[in-house]
Amino acid sequence: MSVLTSRPPTVTGRPRRGSRFSWTVMLLLSVAITGYSVGQYAAGSLQDLAADRVGLAPTYADRPFAVQVAFYVHIVTAGLALAVGPFQFVRAIRRRFPRVHRWIGRGYVGAVGLGSVAALVMSCFNSVAFAGFFGFGGLAVLWGWTTYRGYRAAREGDFAAHEAWMIRSFALTFAAPTLRLWFGVLILAQVLAGDAGGDVEKMVGQAYAAVPFLCWLPNLVVAELMVRRRNLPGLRFVVP
Ligand code: HEM
Repeated sequence: MSVLTSRPPTVTGRPRRGSRFSWTVMLLLSVAITGYSVGQYAAGSLQDLAADRVGLAPTYADRPFAVQVAFYVHIVTAGLALAVGPFQFVRAIRRRFPRVHRWIGRGYVGAVGLGSVAALVMSCFNSVAFAGFFGFGGLAVLWGWTTYRGYRAAREGDFAAHEAWMIRSFALTFAAPTLRLWFGVLILAQVLAGDAGGDVEKMVGQAYAAVPFLCWLPNLVVAELMVRRRNLPGLRFVVP
């Protein structure tokens, strides 16, 4: 049986200072998506929002009560994780205010724990059937798992592994902004290709069918490249 684990760094030394520009873009996208998502669904009941065809309200307005609870739990907790996550990568906060880093980190881990369980429930009732079940469901499991590994590494005092797992975890949290970016790109591509003959509903359906995987698989590749650039422990398969 092979197990996915992380290997020790091959080169020792200080990790590179992250680009301030890309961090700022990441923060702005995270805050914008959190604000938009929470604001959108706080504006009324699911039934009212469904009548106005707001976001996914029409999909969830008729779902069982427990699924609707999962929907709201997911939006609030995932939004919290997305909003606070970028600050965990600020070295100045980690160095000067380690207690702040620790408390935000506990909040992040708790939010991802709840958010991923809620997302797993939602993936069984999602609006894109099988692709959504496997794409969003796979994302939910990996999101919880990478975050748990990051938390465990911190508790064990293995801070290189902690940083590596939390980079992977936040790359998955960042699926919320990348989903919306990919969605826009796929709609634009169809408009430019004249594919769906101007049928907006068809274009939306086709774009949404691809995003359950597209929103997170490339993020994981980027995360792994970042882990390697920082000489942190990369992933490898081991046969125990
Ligand atoms: C990273 C792990 C995540 C997973 C596994 C996940 C899973 C899901 C699933 C299954 C849905 C329903 C999709 C459908 O029915 O078509 C959904 C919708 C939603 N999620 Fe997440 N999600 C994640 C991250 C986030 C984050 C970080 C946010 C932050 C704001 C977020 C906010 C939302 C919102 C607002 C919706 C409703 C979508 C809309 O209005 O278009 N999710 N998510």
